[in-house]
Amino acid sequence: MSEYKMDQPVGASPLDRGVQGIIGEPLNRVEGRRKVAGDVPYAADHKVEGKLAVGVAICSTIGFGRVKGFDTSKAEAMPGVLAAIVDDPRIPRETAGFSDEKLVTGNDRVDSYGQSLGVVVAETFEQARAAANAVKVEYDPGEGRFDAGAGRGGARPLGDEGMVPDTTVGDIDAAMASAPHTLDRTYETPSHAHAAMEPHAAIAVWEGDSLTVYTSIQITSGAKKKLVNTLGLGSDKARIVSPYIGGGFGGKGGLGTECVLAAIAAKRIGRPVKLVITRQQLFHLVYRRSDTVQRMRLACDADGRLTAFGQDSIVSQNDGRPFYEPVPLGSLALYAGANRSFTTKAYTLNIPHCGSVRAPGEAVGILGVECAMDEMAEQLGMDPVEFRKLNEPEKDLTRNRPFSERQLVQCMEEGARRFGWERRNAKPLQEREGEWWIGRGMAAAIRVNMLTNAQARLRIEPGGKVVVETDMTDIGTGSYTILSQIAGEILGMPIESVEVRLGDSLFPAAFGSGGSMGAASSGSAVALAAEDAVAELAARMGTSVKDLTLKDGHAIAGNRRVPVGDLVAQKTIETTGTIKPGAMAKQYDQAAYGAHFVEVAVSGVTGETRIRKVTSVFAAGRILNAKTARSQAIGGIIWGIGEALTEEAVTDPRYGNFANNDLAEYHVPVHADIPHLDVTFLPELDDKTNPLKIKGIGELGIAGIGAAVNNAIYNATGVRVYEFPITLDKVL
Ligand code: MOS
Repeated sequence: MSEYKMDQPVGASPLDRGVQGIIGEPLNRVEGRRKVAGDVPYAADHKVEGKLAVGVAICSTIGFGRVKGFDTSKAEAMPGVLAAIVDDPRIPRETAGFSDEKLVTGNDRVDSYGQSLGVVVAETFEQARAAANAVKVEYDPGEGRFDAGAGRGGARPLGDEGMVPDTTVGDIDAAMASAPHTLDRTYETPSHAHAAMEPHAAIAVWEGDSLTVYTSIQITSGAKKKLVNTLGLGSDKARIVSPYIGGGFGGKGGLGTECVLAAIAAKRIGRPVKLVITRQQLFHLVYRRSDTVQRMRLACDADGRLTAFGQDSIVSQNDGRPFYEPVPLGSLALYAGANRSFTTKAYTLNIPHCGSVRAPGEAVGILGVECAMDEMAEQLGMDPVEFRKLNEPEKDLTRNRPFSERQLVQCMEEGARRFGWERRNAKPLQEREGEWWIGRGMAAAIRVNMLTNAQARLRIEPGGKVVVETDMTDIGTGSYTILSQIAGEILGMPIESVEVRLGDSLFPAAFGSGGSMGAASSGSAVALAAEDAVAELAARMGTSVKDLTLKDGHAIAGNRRVPVGDLVAQKTIETTGTIKPGAMAKQYDQAAYGAHFVEVAVSGVTGETRIRKVTSVFAAGRILNAKTARSQAIGGIIWGIGEALTEEAVTDPRYGNFANNDLAEYHVPVHADIPHLDVTFLPELDDKTNPLKIKGIGELGIAGIGAAVNNAIYNATGVRVYEFPITLDKVL
């Protein structure tokens, strides 16, 4: 059993040998054909024994207050209804959560609009939905704080409470007071909702006092602990199964209401229960991204060198929740400047609480930084790329530590070349095609790189089939494929003979998918397990690892070439790999970088923005699969374009609900909104990150792109927008 702690730079990576040549190749997803054929079970598709009943959540129709009582008599008398459950003290008040502790429970109180108050179970979905609507709830409404912005004045400093502790270096006020060039601007972003394509869903099955929940979740072992604690079960009495997931993005990071309600209902009626959260319910039953206010302060000397670089933010959260949007996370080390300030304050909103949404921190925080950098470059009369290159720091000046690999400048240079940046006219309102004003803008991208504890088990079975098992999930990112590539590469096996099994809490714990650290963490664990298997194969060949070549399903040593299947014919090889983060994470500032270049056309008649061209260049360590990596990048870019132009969860200040709680009114880009996206990954190996020398990429693409769009809109129209999304009215 191999265990490796990232305490020093890795020397040779198991992937460096590259004999098979499948690492980095743009291979199709190993499960892709089955997915498009409808042949894999998503959460609501699993076939279970027994007659499945259907649950529908009863959700609150006020935003804040007490529940005085329920009347379920009408609902219970309706056709097909099996139970209307409002009396179980374990009904969650918290919609979802990451930690191991139990979900906040108790339906005597309403903390936010749309919170679950109970569950109705019936023979069909329609019967359950009708009955859920017929449950009468008597409320004693309280005075909730629903109005985003109204409480910002009284926001309290978070100090060390947030994910990014408040940090100041030097004296930013003095630097701002004395510099020849200063910029002090405030940017605002609204609440964002999760909208994964597959809705949250669960099927709960009890066998005696043992519970299995089939669901759609990013982190199975964490969810299992939370489920056990919420329901009060023995730790060996629950299993979470989540093999295929139609998008996660953080919203499926922690255990959701649906799992608990389905489990309570299934126990009550003695049958398996399926519960799917409807799209409209999801807007309130999955945590949102906080609204943010970001005060950007920049000061430069006469040559354009930053002397001050600060981002002070305000975020919101519902009462008693530990998560705060870490706005400055990616900003801390992005640019130079001896005087620095990064602080966060929080105020209370009694609306659905905040949690992880793709790239917590950078997805919104880089908008403020990169819009401010564009405006400062203009003030200095400098090209935005040149201004950023001039202020490339030699180390992380906030935490005073070196970078691992950082190719931000190379990304900007290559992006500018591919895009044709030299065609940009620095002056706005210079290029016009009919009613359309044409503009070009750019921005940097950054996402912190992390590693977490992960374990994987690997077997080479008689016949030579390789089986990999870990509770890592594939949320649509390509985990099955890259883990197959890693095992196949190291063992010299074609990936068709590797079977990767994921998303079951019975498998070795690998944290799961989240924080862009899934590939690095579970991938390293698989590589370590595979390295142990190589050692065992060498022993069975009577040779050393050094003198063994594994290729095309064969072990080769000297003049002998033996099928791997033969070496395991008598005895299966089984190994386990464990990766642990170590000193490298503290000693080095680790991040993936990129640069976005955008061309827009803005209608002088309607103010509508059309994206005409996007060129993005990233540097993110070794790329395991060029196709799945590009998919991650373009997914992030498209989301970021929506964030820039349309995305906004609008609260009704009277009730605390989101008024636009469906995909007809919560606008995300569609195909017609997006041109071809030119995406490039630069060659890079980072030996400080993990044994694979890779970095996380899932959340990189969304960072910065919205600022590039905003900067391009300014270049087209001469209008600077400080409040996202950049809707038509703000541009005209
Ligand atoms: Mo991510 S927002 O950590 O899934």
